[in-house]
Amino acid sequence: MCKESLLICKKKTFQQDQQSTMQTMIYNISLAKYLAYSHKNPIFKLDLSSTLTLMKYFPKVMGEKIYLSPLNVEDAEKLTAWMNDPEIAKNITSQSKVISLNSERARIEAITKTTDEYTFAIIEKSENKILGTIGFAHVNWVHRNAEIWISIGEKEYHGKGYGTDAMKSIVSYGFNVLNLHSLYLNVYDFNVWGQKCYQKCWFKVIGKRREGYFYNGKYHDMIYMDITRKDRETLGEK
Ligand SMILES: CC(C)(COP(=O)(O)OP(=O)(O)OC[C@H]1O[C@@H](n2cnc3c(N)ncnc32)[C@H](O)[C@@H]1OP(=O)(O)O)[C@@H](O)C(=O)NCCC(=O)NCCS
Repeated sequence: MCKESLLICKKKTFQQDQQSTMQTMIYNISLAKYLAYSHKNPIFKLDLSSTLTLMKYFPKVMGEKIYLSPLNVEDAEKLTAWMNDPEIAKNITSQSKVISLNSERARIEAITKTTDEYTFAIIEKSENKILGTIGFAHVNWVHRNAEIWISIGEKEYHGKGYGTDAMKSIVSYGFNVLNLHSLYLNVYDFNVWGQKCYQKCWFKVIGKRREGYFYNGKYHDMIYMDITRKDRETLGEK
């Protein structure tokens, strides 16, 4: 096997919409190549390490520019950095908490040990890079509703459509796979991006809790939004 094969493998097969079985196969081929050639050529070592990075994620819910994957415990460091970053934290209620790497690792470990959790990593398709997290909380199987939440921690990816893409993808998963009937969320009044993103994903404002959130020396309103299956069908979305 030559260097070119490995590059083709990396460029073509890891591009878009790859299934995990294919990825596992490529991983095995790359590993065999590595074992055979790494001692001769250090370039193969680089190729393998980037391949291994790519292999961490498993496309579960497909969007246009992103896919949603189960989280990995190794993502704990990034998540800890994001949750302690004041610019991100003010929007997701983690500003008033000190979140350690250990506690975050333990939280992710707990998530990955159960099949009842709907927490996903948001992965940029072309680079297989984690941008943030998204999920459902408080899933109620009697009333068939759930709270939905999102956080894109990689700030240079803000305002480029990734949030809208991820939200639309998980909304579709909620209605079409989990058979949920309605989804709801809350967003703080100063988070105009968030509100616009949710409106683009067909959420409607249903009310607000006045001065329900204290941040930066003053109280802010919490805006409540929701979407029903019918709302979405009326808009022609499937
Ligand atoms: C809120 C968040 C999910 C939005 O995702 P995003 O990828 O940044 O936003 P999108 O690119 O999908 O844009 C959605 C809309 O927001 C608005 N928007 C995006 N960037 C903006 C900017 N720089 N200035 C003003 N409005 C902006 C636009 O109206 C855009 O719609 P358009 O594309 O039609 O113009 C994301 O920024 C985020 O996770 N932020 C940090 C944590 C957070 O706020 N979580 C939500 C808590 S409720």
